[in-house]
Amino acid sequence: MVASEIRALFAVASRPEIVSLAGGSPFVSALPLDAVGEMVGRLIASRGKDALQYCTAQGDMTLREQICEVMSLEGIRAHPDEVVVTVGSQQALDLITRIFVDPGDVVLAEAPSYVGALGAFAAYQAEVVHVAMDESGIIPEALVAAIDRLAAAGRRVKFLYTVPSFHNPAGVTMAASRRLEVLRICERAGLLVVEDNPYGLLGFEGEPLRPLRAHTRDGVVYLGSFSKTIAAGLRVGWAVAPPAVRDKLVLAAESAVLCHPSFAQLTVREYLATQPWQEQIKAFRELYRARRDAMLDALAGAMPPGCGWTRPGGGFFVWLRLPAGIDAKAMLPRAISARVAYVPGTGFFADGSGAGHARLSYSLPEPGQITEGVRRLADVIRRELTLREAFGSVLRRDGDG
Ligand SMILES: Cc1ncc(COP(=O)(O)O)c(C=O)c1O
Repeated sequence: MVASEIRALFAVASRPEIVSLAGGSPFVSALPLDAVGEMVGRLIASRGKDALQYCTAQGDMTLREQICEVMSLEGIRAHPDEVVVTVGSQQALDLITRIFVDPGDVVLAEAPSYVGALGAFAAYQAEVVHVAMDESGIIPEALVAAIDRLAAAGRRVKFLYTVPSFHNPAGVTMAASRRLEVLRICERAGLLVVEDNPYGLLGFEGEPLRPLRAHTRDGVVYLGSFSKTIAAGLRVGWAVAPPAVRDKLVLAAESAVLCHPSFAQLTVREYLATQPWQEQIKAFRELYRARRDAMLDALAGAMPPGCGWTRPGGGFFVWLRLPAGIDAKAMLPRAISARVAYVPGTGFFADGSGAGHARLSYSLPEPGQITEGVRRLADVIRRELTLREAFGSVLRRDGDG
C-alpha cells in the first residue's frame, strides 16, 4: 500500500490561500443544514435505541428498499435482497476486490481510473491492465484486444472496473451504444463487470444514460453511493450483486466491520423519507453545472495553445491535457507556490504514467475561485513553456558548439 497522490496533496491544498482544484469533495454546504440537524435530533429522540445499536451486516431493510427506489431513477430494477449497504462505495470496492482477487490476478480498468479503486486493487496485489478510452468512454476494440492478449498469455482476469457516467478523473461518459457493446464483449469473455456509478444522478444535460446494470441482472456488480447526492461524511454506499456474490459480500463486510453504522444508515433513511431529496439533487446539479461552466469558460479564456480538456456532461471533473513535454507532477510545486492545486495525472494510472495530464475538480470552489485558480494554473503552464523554450535553445546551442 502506498499513499495516493491525492492524500499527499490534501494538507497543502487545504491552506486558505490556495485555490484547490484538487480534491473531489461535494459542496455539502448547499444542504439545508438546519433542517438536517433537526431531523437528526428527532431521529435520536424517537429511534435512538435502533440508531445507536448494532444491525445486520447486509444493512437496514427499509434503507435497502429506498436504495432500490433511488436506483430506479436511472432505470435499474433491483430487489432489496440484492443490495448490500457499505461504508461508502469505497468499501464496496475493497470488499469486491478482497472476494475476487488473488495476488497477481488481473483487473481491467479504464485509462485513467479512479485513484481509490487503484488503491484497493493494489492493496490486494492485483495487476491493473488499463484499457484506452476516448470521449465516448472505454474503446471496445481496445477492450477486446486486452482480453485476447491476456487470454493468450494465460492470465486470470477477474473483472472489468468501469465508471461509465461522468468519469473520475476523465470527465467523459460512455455512450449508450458503447454500454451495450461493452456488456456484450464481457459476456462473451465470461468477464464480470464492476460498475461504479456515484455521479449518475448529477448529469447536467437531459435524462441520465441507463447504467450497465439496467441492461442486465447477471454479470454486473453495481456500486452506488450517497456521498455525492446527500453527504460524503455519512459514508453510506451500496453494492448490488447477484445472490452468490451478495452472500460473499455480506460475509466479507461482517468480518471487516460486523455491521455498518446504524446511525448513518438511519440518518439516510430518515433523510430520504422526510426531506425533499430529489429537489436537493436538482439543486446540486444546477450548482455543479454553474461551476463546470465557470471552469470551461476559464480554460477557454486562459489556457495556452497545446492544452486540451474534456467537457463533462455531469459529475465533478475535467481532465486537462498539458502541452507536449510538460510534466504535471514536476510542475505541481510551482503551481502550489502560485497558489493553485490540482492532481497530476500520474495518480490515475497503476503504472505511474499520465504525467501529461492533470485532474481539475470544480465541485468545491465557488465559480469566482475556479476562474482565479484556472488563471493561476494557466500562468504556471505558460512559465513552464517559456522555461522549456529557453532550456531548449541553450541545449540546442550547446549541441551546436
Ligand atoms: C468513481 C468513484 N468511486 C468511488 C468513490 C468513493 O466514494 P464513497 O466511498 O464516498 O462512496 C469515489 C469518490 O470520489 C469516486 O469518484
